[in-house]
Amino acid sequence: MTGYLIRPGRIADAADLARLQAEVQLQTLTGGQPHPGIAAWTEDLLDGHPTVTPDNFLVAEHEATGRPVASLAALRQEWSLAGVRLPIVQIELVGTAPEHRGNRLTERLFAALHQTCDTSGVPLQMIEGIPYFYRRLGYDYALVADGAATLPMPVPAGPAGELMMRPATAADADTLAAVDRRLADGDTLFCPRDATVWRYEITGRRPADIARREVAVLLRGSVVRGYLVHGGRPSATGELIVVAAACDVHADWPHAANSMYAYLGELCRHHEASAMRPLLGPDHPLVRFGPPGVPRRPRSWYLRTGDPAGLLARLRPLLHARWQAAGMRWPAPTITIDSYGRAARLEFTDGELTSVTATRGAVNPSMDPATHAAIPPGALLQLALGHRTVSEVLDIWPDCVLRDRLTEQFLTAAFPRMPVRVWPRT
Ligand SMILES: CC(C)(COP(=O)(O)OP(=O)(O)OC[C@H]1O[C@@H](n2cnc3c(N)ncnc32)[C@H](O)[C@@H]1OP(=O)(O)O)[C@@H](O)C(=O)NCCC(=O)NCCS
Repeated sequence: MTGYLIRPGRIADAADLARLQAEVQLQTLTGGQPHPGIAAWTEDLLDGHPTVTPDNFLVAEHEATGRPVASLAALRQEWSLAGVRLPIVQIELVGTAPEHRGNRLTERLFAALHQTCDTSGVPLQMIEGIPYFYRRLGYDYALVADGAATLPMPVPAGPAGELMMRPATAADADTLAAVDRRLADGDTLFCPRDATVWRYEITGRRPADIARREVAVLLRGSVVRGYLVHGGRPSATGELIVVAAACDVHADWPHAANSMYAYLGELCRHHEASAMRPLLGPDHPLVRFGPPGVPRRPRSWYLRTGDPAGLLARLRPLLHARWQAAGMRWPAPTITIDSYGRAARLEFTDGELTSVTATRGAVNPSMDPATHAAIPPGALLQLALGHRTVSEVLDIWPDCVLRDRLTEQFLTAAFPRMPVRVWPRT
C-alpha cells in the first residue's frame, strides 16, 4: 500500500496525535466532539510519562501531507506471574482518521508492532478492544479482566478494626512500591509499580487525563498496610470504579475490606454515585469479603504471542518449581510443545527442566510421533497465563492433542489456574 509511511512517533507529533485520538475515541460518549480526557492522556503519554516515550507510539504518516493519520500506543511494561517477570506491551489508543479508513492502516501498524516485539524479546501483547476485530490481527481472548459484581449504593460495611484509609501522597510512593514488590512474588498474575510509577499515578498526570486514578492508602496506625485505587468521579453510568486493591498482610483482609468499603461509600455519597463497580476478579479478597451485589459478565483481554518458545522460556523457573513441588521428574530428555507453526523444546537433565528453546514446528504436529503436545496458540496462551487448565483446554479445543497420559499429567501440574490481579500501566 503506497501513500503512507509507518514510523515511530516523535515528540513533534504530540499535538497532532492528541487531536487525532481525541477525535476518534469514545465518540458515542461525546456525541462526535473531541474527547478532552483522551487528548490529555495522549499528551501525558508523549510528554513526562515515567515509562513511555514518543517512539512507543507507531504512526501512519500520510505522505502527501506529512501528517499522522493513524496511530497506536505500545505501552511496554512488566507483569509478574508468580514471581516470574513477563515483558508485555499493552496496546492503547488505536485510531485512524475517518477520511483515511479503508486503507488497512491498523493492520500495518500492528504488523510493525509485532515485528518489533518479536525481535526485541517481548513475548506478549495485550489489548482490550473492539470485539472480534483483533482476532483478525492474531489475538485471542486469553485473560479475564474482572467479573466482580456491581454494588448498588448504599454498600454496607462492617467493622474495620484498627485499619483506616486516607488519600495517598507522593511521599507514600516508596512504601507502595514495597507492597507491590512483595505482591509480585505471590501466586497471582500481577502488574507491579515502582516508586517512580506510583508517584506518577498519585501526582503526575494532567487532571483531565482519562487514565488518571485516585490512590488511597490503608493504614494501621501510621503504617501503610495496603492500597486502594479508584476512579476520581463516577462514570457516565453513575458507577465509581475500583481498579486495584491490595493488602500487605493477608489476614488483614476482612477488616481491610470493611475499611475500603466505608471509604468508597463516603466517596460515592459525596459524588452521588449510584453504585461501586470493582474492576476486579470475583476471587479478589476485596470482593470475597464484600457484599454480594449484582453479578455481571466479565470483560476479557485479547493477547498475542509471536514467540511461544520465548514465553515458555520466561516461565522456565516456574515450571521447574511446579514440577519439583509435585515431585515429578520427566523420564526423557525433551518435551516438544508445538503450537501449529512454532514449537518449543523443553530440555531435561535427570528429570529436571534445564532449558527451553525454539524449534521448527512439525507439518502436522497432532500426528507427529516426536511431538508431545500440539496446542493451538490461543490455548497455549491461556495455559501459560493460568486462565484455563489443561482439562478445560482439551475440552474446548479438539485440535489440542496430547501424546499420552504422562504428558497430560506434566502439563496439568505445569499450568494451574492463576488469579488475575492486574491493573495495567497506562
Ligand atoms: C478501528 C479503526 C482503527 C480501524 O481503522 P482502519 O485500520 O483504517 O481499518 P479499515 O477501515 O482499513 O478496515 C479494515 C477492516 O476492519 C474492519 N473494521 C474497521 N473498523 C471496524 C470496527 N470499528 N469494528 C469492526 N471492524 C472494523 C473493516 O470493515 C475492514 O474489514 P474488511 O477487511 O472485511 O474490509 C477505525 O475504525 C477507528 O479509528 N475507529 C474509532 C476508534 C476505535 O474504535 N479504535 C479502536 C479502539 S480498541
